[in-house]
Amino acid sequence: MSATQLLEGLSYPERKVLLTLEGLDGGASPERVFEAGQFQQLVEVMNASSWLQSKGLVDIKESAKKFYSLKAKDILDRGLPERKALQFIGSNQGRCTIAELEQGIGKGDASLAIGWLKRKSLVSMEKGEGAPSMVLTDIGKRSLGADMPDEALLRTLAQADRPEDEVDTNVVAQLKTRQDLITERLVVSRELSVTDLGREVLALGIELKEEVAQLTPELIKTGKWRDVSIRKYDVNTFAPSLYAAKKHPLTRVADEVRRIFIQMGFTEVDDEYVQAAFWNMDALFTPQDHPARDMQDTFYLKRPAKVEIEEEDIIAKVKAVHENGGDTGSLGWRYAWSREEAERALLRTHTTPNSIRYLAKHPDPPAKVFSIGRIFRNESIDMTHLPEFVQIEGIIMEEGANFDMLVNVLREFYRRMGFDTIRVRPGPFPYTEPSLEIDIYFNGRWMELGGAGVFRPEVTAPLGVKHPVLAWGLGFERLAMLRWNLKDIRELYITDLDMLRSSPVF
Ligand code: FA5
Repeated sequence: MSATQLLEGLSYPERKVLLTLEGLDGGASPERVFEAGQFQQLVEVMNASSWLQSKGLVDIKESAKKFYSLKAKDILDRGLPERKALQFIGSNQGRCTIAELEQGIGKGDASLAIGWLKRKSLVSMEKGEGAPSMVLTDIGKRSLGADMPDEALLRTLAQADRPEDEVDTNVVAQLKTRQDLITERLVVSRELSVTDLGREVLALGIELKEEVAQLTPELIKTGKWRDVSIRKYDVNTFAPSLYAAKKHPLTRVADEVRRIFIQMGFTEVDDEYVQAAFWNMDALFTPQDHPARDMQDTFYLKRPAKVEIEEEDIIAKVKAVHENGGDTGSLGWRYAWSREEAERALLRTHTTPNSIRYLAKHPDPPAKVFSIGRIFRNESIDMTHLPEFVQIEGIIMEEGANFDMLVNVLREFYRRMGFDTIRVRPGPFPYTEPSLEIDIYFNGRWMELGGAGVFRPEVTAPLGVKHPVLAWGLGFERLAMLRWNLKDIRELYITDLDMLRSSPVF
């Protein structure tokens, strides 16, 4: 930005600080500028200086200095313990025993004093006939009539606080090891100076006039805006970002999925998390010894341990289908089906029971429903697996529905979500024939996004459904990963505020 543009964007206080600094030979402390410029408050100078600094017109140099002060004013009146001891020894012909000192100045002071007398070489110990004596050294004798260095410093501090460069740091270090004598504090001082660019702006001639920073309705209505000077906006000025409230990215992906299926003519349904194994597995022609029914894969509940199934007609038909195929032409799984096993309560392991229970209630065509529901699996967590996740489930039941239609519907759904590179391959589900799995190309590899197929007669016949049912269950979080270009599925559930704030609203 040119000097002229910078000048135009200067606020009244910024102009005033620049001009005041110019009058102070281009540099001064904020306090000095405050006085010389007759500002109302120091903070005005500081704010304007920060703005000037951000525009490159003023430099702010900060330096920190340690200052020392007395903890209590009467420290010297009370006297250091070694001073009391020194005086006592002096009045005792320059020598005394520890017991004498204790008697002379008190036990407390004596015990504090003895260490310091020795450390400061004020006394030396002499062994005589009886108890050893402390004898004044030359330093001790000289100190009788004069301040010791630490006392001298304390006396100076009693007059005023002193900065670190005006005191003897060794003496300060020694005083700091003693309690209740001196305090150290860090004082930060600032020095403002006009930069070369600042001088260029000053050379253009700064006019100090009040400016209107905000155009009010009042100014416009009365026409006063013609007479006032209006400050130019600087659209490049730094301003804090404001983050509007928005929905969580996952909620937005869910809304998008919902909108697409509704646009494609589907109706949304949901069901309970807690289901009888019957609806989660048996009605899906999944045999009772199927490994997916294992505790390793499924969360069974203690309370309630059982969910009763009331649809006796369907139960009888599901039992027959499992045992011998019923009247579907299938041979079934050929084992004794257990109602008790089917009534075990579990957390649904997929959203397919939503579709099955819907079909059980609405066996007549047409049906086009979808769900977006939470499901639970006893799985270890990794980059693409969570033990609790969401599936996008759906079915189409109508006369003549076929596998091609299914593939096209899924392709169309992903196309509308913005993904064209899709791969369809055979799938392994016990309840569909034919079955498929869908992958999407992501981060240099194929990621499995969902399973689908046409429900087998062993599934539809017990429900009283006479037409083909196209069904699918798709991973919701994996879709969101593609949308947000995340490598790790866990990132979706970490409340990372920066990520949430910077996520675009689409
Ligand atoms: C099923 O759950 C079938 N019920 C889908 C289905 C419905 C097939 C109707 C046929 C007819 P699967 O277990 O593969 O399928 O899960 C479907 C999708 O959920 C997976 O493709 C994957 O995208 C996602 N998914 C599976 N396990 C996890 C997990 N642990 N964490 C996150 N997403 C997962």
